[in-house]
Amino acid sequence: MKLNIAVLPGDGIGPEIIEQALHATEAVSNKFGHELTCNHALVGAVAIDAVGNPYPDATHALCMESDAVLFGAIGSPKYDNDPSAKVRPEQGLLAMRKKLELYANIRPVTVFSSLIDKSPLKPELIGNVDFMCIRELTGGLYFGRPQGRSEDGTTAYDTCVYTVEEIDRIVRLAYEYAIKRRKKVTIVDKANVLCTSRLWRQVAQGIAKEFPQVETEYMFVDNAAMQLIQWPERFDVIVTENMFGDILTDEASVITGSLGMLPSASVGVHTSVFEPIHGSYPQAAGKNIANPLATILSAALMFEYAFGLKTEGALIRKAVDASMDAGVVTEDIARGGKAYTTSDVGKWIVDYILNEK
Ligand code: IPM
Ligand code: MG
Repeated sequence: MKLNIAVLPGDGIGPEIIEQALHATEAVSNKFGHELTCNHALVGAVAIDAVGNPYPDATHALCMESDAVLFGAIGSPKYDNDPSAKVRPEQGLLAMRKKLELYANIRPVTVFSSLIDKSPLKPELIGNVDFMCIRELTGGLYFGRPQGRSEDGTTAYDTCVYTVEEIDRIVRLAYEYAIKRRKKVTIVDKANVLCTSRLWRQVAQGIAKEFPQVETEYMFVDNAAMQLIQWPERFDVIVTENMFGDILTDEASVITGSLGMLPSASVGVHTSVFEPIHGSYPQAAGKNIANPLATILSAALMFEYAFGLKTEGALIRKAVDASMDAGVVTEDIARGGKAYTTSDVGKWIVDYILNEK
């Protein structure tokens, strides 16, 4: 099969982790006889520095004509502490989501047995954690207008907007995943306060009727934040709006022991984007110490979701599991023993993929 990938390494540790994910992608492609083409493009702070735009038109054009986008990370301390900066790297990510119409961000949360003791939660609470957060990605407070400041600068406002159509497509997607899993959907909202949340609930109630085989529960976001750490095993598919999903998925990510482990897929109308959920970790940039596994697992999701190549994705996943069992891991998840570099881990995984019968 011809696999045409746009590669957007971005900022901070982005380039080093993407390099390892690409090695794994190449190894799997070679092994299964796929014809892989990778084209690199700029995004984030590096794109602002080079061309003054965090999501340049050339990058968008490449994404549109590719079969999948493999994305590293975005963000730079240079912009974080400057509230007056006119363009910010994060705008590149938001522009990409909007222009590619990636309305769903899918973040599977599973626990790796070798990392259970790294979690801040008690081991007995997390052994069977296996859920999926589906976050709406192109609406809500992130994109609602008006947004801005009053003329005298003393008042600022953001607007939360959702249409029935936007809610319908994301909630439907959640049910479609739930049927293939443990058949439970948790709709997270704040319907006791917010008008948009009441619309979410109304639309969800209609869709729930179409899926009688799926158990539906409605949960306020504050309660969901609590239940996620108190009883994480109870969740199967969680679906929620953009801002709630942003917050809950960061919370969910630490359950598993390391933020460095979780991949994500953003899907919608145009080309899907696969990226680790962690950020650009600027303190570690260029040091060859960052954990590449979330990005390598994002490549696995890419094979499965974008290309429908399940065996290839499963082999990458198996290689990642094996590297952890063998203790070939970076310092964030090393268990007392030796810590390996980003490139050591990547190389081990490539060897595993190529040698696996
Ligand atoms: C994420 C990130 C982004 C978001 C930032 C970098 C704009 O936190 O992907 O979760 O808020 O969506
Ligand atoms: Mg976030």
